[in-house]
Amino acid sequence: MGFVPSSVFSALQLLVLALPIVHARLVGIPTVPFTESSKYSTFPLNDLRSIVVDTKYADAIDLEGETLIPPTLTEFANTFSSDLESSLGLSIPVQIDSGASTNSVFLTVAEDNSTFTDAAGRVTSEGYTLNVTSESIFITGASPLGVFWGTRTLLQQAVLGELIVPLGVGTDSPGWRNRGIMIDVARKYHPKEFIIEMCAYLSFYKQNTFHLHLSDNLYNNVARYSIEYAKTLYAAFRLNSDDPLLAGLSKRANESYYREDFEEMQQKCASRGVTIIPEIETPGHTMVINQWKPELALSTDFSLLNLTHPETLPTIKTIWKVLLPWMHSKTVSIGADEYDSTLRIEYNAFVNAMNDFIAAESGKKIRIWGAFPPVPNSTSNVNKSVSIQHWASFEDNARTDYIDNDYSVLNTADDFYMVGKSPFSWYPPYTNVTEPFSGGPQGGPYYPNTFNNANSSDNPPLDSPYLLGHIAALWNDIGPNATTVMEAYYSFRDGSPGLADKQWGGDLEYEEYKLIFDKLHAAIPGQNLDWAIPSVSDTILSYDFTKTNGTMVKDASGNSYDGTFQDLGFNPINDTAITFNGKGFISTPLDSKGRNYTLSFSVRPTSETQGTLFEGSQNALRTGDGGTIGNITMISGGNPYTLNYTLPINVWTDLSLVGAGNQTFLYVKEGESSTVVHEFITREGYMGENTYWYPIAFEAPLAKIGEGFEGQMKCITLMGSA
Ligand SMILES: *[C@@H]1O[C@H](CO)[C@@H](O)[C@H](O)[C@H]1NC(C)=O
Ligand SMILES: *[C@@H]1O[C@H](CO)[C@@H](O)[C@H](O)[C@H]1NC(C)=O
Ligand SMILES: *[C@@H]1O[C@H](CO)[C@@H](O)[C@H](O)[C@H]1NC(C)=O
Ligand SMILES: *[C@@H]1O[C@H](CO)[C@@H](O)[C@H](O)[C@H]1NC(C)=O
Ligand SMILES: *[C@@H]1O[C@H](CO)[C@@H](O)[C@H](O)[C@H]1NC(C)=O
Ligand SMILES: *[C@@H]1O[C@H](CO)[C@@H](O)[C@H](O)[C@H]1NC(C)=O
Ligand SMILES: *[C@@H]1O[C@H](CO)[C@@H](O)[C@H](O)[C@H]1NC(C)=O
Ligand SMILES: *[C@@H]1O[C@H](CO)[C@@H](O)[C@H](O)[C@H]1NC(C)=O
Ligand SMILES: *[C@@H]1O[C@H](CO)[C@@H](O)[C@H](O)[C@H]1NC(C)=O
Ligand SMILES: *[C@@H]1O[C@H](CO)[C@@H](O)[C@H](O)[C@H]1NC(C)=O
Ligand SMILES: *[C@@H]1O[C@H](CO)[C@@H](O)[C@H](O)[C@H]1NC(C)=O
Ligand SMILES: *[C@@H]1O[C@H](CO)[C@@H](O)[C@H](O)[C@H]1NC(C)=O
Repeated sequence: MGFVPSSVFSALQLLVLALPIVHARLVGIPTVPFTESSKYSTFPLNDLRSIVVDTKYADAIDLEGETLIPPTLTEFANTFSSDLESSLGLSIPVQIDSGASTNSVFLTVAEDNSTFTDAAGRVTSEGYTLNVTSESIFITGASPLGVFWGTRTLLQQAVLGELIVPLGVGTDSPGWRNRGIMIDVARKYHPKEFIIEMCAYLSFYKQNTFHLHLSDNLYNNVARYSIEYAKTLYAAFRLNSDDPLLAGLSKRANESYYREDFEEMQQKCASRGVTIIPEIETPGHTMVINQWKPELALSTDFSLLNLTHPETLPTIKTIWKVLLPWMHSKTVSIGADEYDSTLRIEYNAFVNAMNDFIAAESGKKIRIWGAFPPVPNSTSNVNKSVSIQHWASFEDNARTDYIDNDYSVLNTADDFYMVGKSPFSWYPPYTNVTEPFSGGPQGGPYYPNTFNNANSSDNPPLDSPYLLGHIAALWNDIGPNATTVMEAYYSFRDGSPGLADKQWGGDLEYEEYKLIFDKLHAAIPGQNLDWAIPSVSDTILSYDFTKTNGTMVKDASGNSYDGTFQDLGFNPINDTAITFNGKGFISTPLDSKGRNYTLSFSVRPTSETQGTLFEGSQNALRTGDGGTIGNITMISGGNPYTLNYTLPINVWTDLSLVGAGNQTFLYVKEGESSTVVHEFITREGYMGENTYWYPIAFEAPLAKIGEGFEGQMKCITLMGSA
């Protein structure tokens, strides 16, 4: 993403001057304690010549954070260097030396880390000091991870200040250890590229945790269906091992993470300070395991494991034994949500057995969802070394049940639960944008100790040593075709950064957030989740097929996104139209365009053969979805979304595919002045009953044009607005 100069900065400066700011701080996401040393001088990043890594710590790593694969200080420095290029257009080399040189950013680790403390007063490896002098900038971390967070501060300030940063000093540490999000990738597959880009997005706001819910099924807790029906329900186990012991468990070959995928996801996320916390859900939500080994299911509920069956515990141990070596976090989640409450004793024994097993196998700790609070003086409670991920006040009271009894708790309270477009859920599909600022007690900020904003006695003090932090969760209860992969990003896009400020312990105000959000968002390195395309004007691409030399088509937009003919024969163009022969296609240098866009084209099929009009990595627009149905169809994540519309044969039709916010339309021009509007929608049924239609947002597919299509196209234009 390029650095986009913005006109809001003067407004921001005015705001910063006008607000009654109590603490000296830098306005960013999160805010940073900072004392300016000069009203008159600044450090212009245009003067920057080098990033200098302190020789003494060049190979140092953080041993205290959540990841077992921490980058070295030099590796973090290299990431910072490439971020300066992509966010700010600055090309700054990395050197290793024993001291700062003039106009450098000097990265080092503190000799004494005791000044970097969390909300409970403990030393944290994630703290850092930023010291901007007129000669050089010093970032001194409690560890290399702390240094990396310091580089995020410098990047953000340079973006907001248009390369000018104030002189001064600030020491900054997160209040809590776990900050981030969870996505249910079990009931909706999200490919590794998406996960990696989401890590870049989180990391820019200093969020360090990406919890992946890796196994689950549709329709839990429903007693109405038969076991035969349950055996056919959508269920997925996303870690795909070739170990014969797990053969048949992960049955969605194209929608799972193989070991090398999971390794790459964890490495790339760790390179930006983000730890993937994997969750394999047992002993509830286990239809995928029960479909694999039906004898392990409870006879009363096929979505639960029978914990007294002699093979159950050995089978779950085998799954973990095979997969633990894949995992590079110090904590893993065994789920343990929503089990049969009459079987609490068996459940607790299972959790404790898994806790012992996973510790003995790997030295890792386990986490479970809050389900059955400890019973006073009972000998069968869950061991206190197991951390609890609290989600609902109807399941437990995080403070009185757990924290007061010395259990560590991660706050995932359903105040920030989301479910991707569900008619059956009261949880919204978006992070509430204002709630982080006003959803806490008395309308104040929502810090990680907020378990009940109406009754503060349910909230532990901010400095409770048992408070692990906060993450927001996105569930896909309605399954794989309710949403697109990218819609999950939009669930977080606008609201999650505000929450990131509170998860860190910042004191950003909502008015400040609104002013800085767009500018920071446009500069997040390592990702292009918006599927933005740089363009000289609102016209991003224009193929009018008058400018062609026989093997390629010139883009007339001024952006030079020229297309190349593949297998179309020499000069497939006549009369400004291109003829597709059912084999070849045009390849473009683009992939997809995110919200908003208008992709207009004229098309004339010459046969009923179903082909692809446009295709990108996210979606494909086709003249049919297989079989004999010739309706215009968008294929996304393997699911067809079909319109009640078929293209006429041997007739030219003018179409526009329009992405407008969370909706997607096909405009069909009929005659001179009339346009018929079709909308892509998804049908959400509940076991075949009660159907609801929801809008669905597709990215415009652009990488290939016309593959498998027989007919002609002309006047292909992509605009960046709806
Ligand atoms: C603080 O420094 C000590 C000594 O180098 C080290 O052992 C410890 O891990 C560090 N603590 C943190 C939280 O980084
Ligand atoms: C900031 O860096 C300057 C130059 O090295 C040094 O004199 C000053 O003590 C530093 N300030 C802090 C608070 O570390
Ligand atoms: C659980 O498994 C045990 C042992 O096989 C069996 O006796 C029991 O009936 C099963 N319980 C249920 C509810 O399926
Ligand atoms: C638990 O045991 C303690 C100490 O024996 C006792 O004081 C307390 O009343 C017991 N609590 C319950 C709920 O039984
Ligand atoms: C968002 O949160 C605010 C503050 O907690 C609340 O008043 C508002 O109703 C929420 N909005 C939605 C759409 O839930
Ligand atoms: C068409 O132009 C492209 C790019 O300039 C060039 O690579 C290609 O060889 C040209 N084809 C012909 C037939 O001239
Ligand atoms: C263009 O190609 C089509 C299909 O091959 C053909 O029917 C038509 O006559 C051609 N038109 C011109 C002007 O050559
Ligand atoms: C197609 O038509 C049926 C019947 O009128 C309607 O229920 C359905 O929503 C339509 N589908 C789309 C994608 O518009
Ligand atoms: C295809 O479109 C026709 C209307 O053109 C509609 O009646 C039919 O239901 C559609 N088929 C599917 C599978 O949506
Ligand atoms: C995108 O389109 C939606 C719906 O038309 C509109 O509300 C939104 O403001 C548009 N976004 C931009 C950036 O133009
Ligand atoms: C689509 O976005 C609008 C705001 O632009 C919102 O009111 C609506 O609830 C959203 N619909 C869905 C299904 O997300
Ligand atoms: C989505 O899947 C459900 C079954 O789970 C099915 O009833 C529905 O038609 C599907 N919707 C679309 C748009 O394919």
